[in-house]
Amino acid sequence: MSIDFGNDIYEEPIVAKTFLQEDAQEGSLRPKTLREYIGQEKAKDNLAVFIQAAQKRGEALDHVLLHGPPGLGKTTLAGIIAQEMGAGIRITSGPAIEKPGDLAALLTNLNEGDILFVDEIHRLNRSVEEILYRPWRLRPGHHRGQGPQRQLHPAGPAQVYPDRGHHPGRVALGTTADRFGVTLRLELYTPEELSRIVTRSAGILNVEIEPDGAYEIARRSRGTPRIANRMLRRVRDLPRSKADGVITAAVADEALCALEVDQLGLDSVDRRMLGAIIDHYNGGPV
Ligand code: ADE
Repeated sequence: MSIDFGNDIYEEPIVAKTFLQEDAQEGSLRPKTLREYIGQEKAKDNLAVFIQAAQKRGEALDHVLLHGPPGLGKTTLAGIIAQEMGAGIRITSGPAIEKPGDLAALLTNLNEGDILFVDEIHRLNRSVEEILYRPWRLRPGHHRGQGPQRQLHPAGPAQVYPDRGHHPGRVALGTTADRFGVTLRLELYTPEELSRIVTRSAGILNVEIEPDGAYEIARRSRGTPRIANRMLRRVRDLPRSKADGVITAAVADEALCALEVDQLGLDSVDRRMLGAIIDHYNGGPV
């Protein structure tokens, strides 16, 4: 993918917020359990409590809303919740569910206790959103069924939104956040946490890295594991690190400079944007 920035076309930068082709291998680096998951201590602590309570009751976990900047591990945490709950997981995204029928197909194919992960839920179509937030129950007598033959019926909206109803001029739904029993906000990672993540990833990728090398990548990764892991792979693939085998701070620095990521983790597009704000807009605001 490339970005049209003014008259120039740039390759998607290493610091891109979106999921890049090269992130497809991210899966192998994702921790599978809460114990393996580094950082986000508050979210982890809360989640552990909710998971244990649900397991004690022998029930499914309440709906969980994970929010925060891209690349911090929301999908990873969803996978961990499934793993810890001993449940299956289906992953979809807001834009992928175009019409109510798409959602119905997803829901009827879930097995009992399965988790449905909807990435970018804020981009869900209104008509789909309304259906998603209705409580779904199985028709009596069909609760053992699985797959499409299992019938799901929405309870009437009146049971769900007794206080919002269908008053003219009012939005039928509350904010998405109202519908979730558990809300977890993910924060940017500290360089120390990212160092541990980079070191762990290097182990999985079979790359030798020195603590200073991991820290160099970590501190230039904008608090984001996805960017840190991307940088690690790119540093690993550069000829110099291949020759010496070990990623030292000097090797990491040289590689990141070659990739035009500066000491602050800014790339060439960032620098041009900042330059434009400073030079053409008198330092902003703009
Ligand atoms: N890889 C990506 N994010 C991670 C995290 N939070 N902990 C461990 N490994 C990771």
